[in-house]
Amino acid sequence: MSTQNKVALVVGANGVIGRNLVGHLAALGDWTVIGLSRRGGESTERIRHVSVDLLDRDDCRRKLGDLAEVTHIFYTAYQDRPTWAELVPPNLAMLVNVLDAMEPVARGLLHVSLMQGYKVYGGHLGPFKTPARETDAYFMPPEFMHDQQRALEARQKGKAWSWTAIRPAVVCGFALGNPLNLAMVIAVYGAMSKELGLPLRFPGKPGAYDKLLEMTDAGLLARATVWAATDPRCANQAFNINNGDLFRWSEMWPKIAGSFGLDVAPPLPLSLDTVMADKEPVWNAMVARHGLQRLAYQDVSSWRFGDFVFSWDYDMFADGSKARRFGFHDYVDTEAMFLGIFDDFRRRRIIP
Ligand SMILES: NC(=O)c1ccc[n+]([C@@H]2O[C@H](COP(=O)([O-])OP(=O)(O)OC[C@H]3O[C@@H](n4cnc5c(N)ncnc54)[C@H](OP(=O)(O)O)[C@@H]3O)[C@@H](O)[C@H]2O)c1
Repeated sequence: MSTQNKVALVVGANGVIGRNLVGHLAALGDWTVIGLSRRGGESTERIRHVSVDLLDRDDCRRKLGDLAEVTHIFYTAYQDRPTWAELVPPNLAMLVNVLDAMEPVARGLLHVSLMQGYKVYGGHLGPFKTPARETDAYFMPPEFMHDQQRALEARQKGKAWSWTAIRPAVVCGFALGNPLNLAMVIAVYGAMSKELGLPLRFPGKPGAYDKLLEMTDAGLLARATVWAATDPRCANQAFNINNGDLFRWSEMWPKIAGSFGLDVAPPLPLSLDTVMADKEPVWNAMVARHGLQRLAYQDVSSWRFGDFVFSWDYDMFADGSKARRFGFHDYVDTEAMFLGIFDDFRRRRIIP
């Protein structure tokens, strides 16, 4: 296949994951990129944004029906819901709607990449076996990631295209208005702590401060996702993708505090979703005082996700060696990642 005609359909192009994947594909230079989301975006020479509601089958058929040139589908869309069971119907429906609309028209389809996470291993439910491995058995449903993967595997049988399933840890990178955005949680919490003259206090469960965990940089994840989608050895395989180092908040938190010029205070369990609920006036005053971008408080607040991540009073990591054995050797230093992302947010005038 010529390198001229690789056409990526990034499903969920405004997400923490999708947005960074779109940027990476466009920068590679030999991809044409089409991004799907409800909000859409400004199209450029290399990136075409299509606004579509993936929950609406008819809208999918209408808007995707002429995307015959697509060779690679990168599925990174996500619908948030309050319970694990409620996540299943919309998240399965969106994947099925995309594949139903695309398979008949994209005759040159080569690959479907499915974005997953450690939910595949039950990491969100409580203490689970670590390091989690790609071969670990599924658990009692409901779990939307299992349903999505089963649907994808069943559909691929006998087809010319292949699939990969990509399983990152918590993903850190730039995005706005997203429910799962840890870097933004920490950045805004840190900036507002400073604004209020407070030290940086870890707000999680007491046992969460010293457990082992890992992160996945959104840029590294984009590189891994494209690698897996284009290396024939990876066909029909799942891969854990993480930065390659482990850390504990007890060691990381003081480094993060330092990057905000703050002292650290001992941890105290606080629900960010509760205590940050009345802080919109503080945010607005901070934006005005420091001449920041005028972003709505809700677009920089993933407090519920912060509470979720900071509640993990058990180890949260997976074995990343399979990707290395298959040829992906990239790694990112997690401390440098956090500090680099906060600097990026400062450059973008999101935080002071
Ligand atoms: N973020 C993390 O830390 C993390 C870690 C591990 C695994 N994961 C998994 O990775 C996947 C993607 O996560 P993410 O954090 O990147 O999600 P996200 O930031 O919430 O992005 C979701 C994307 O889906 C689009 N979308 C949602 N509903 C849609 C609809 N009805 N029609 C069209 N587009 C729709 C959103 O754009 P619009 O709002 O514009 O429609 C957005 O582009 C999820 O399965 C998640 O569980 C995430």
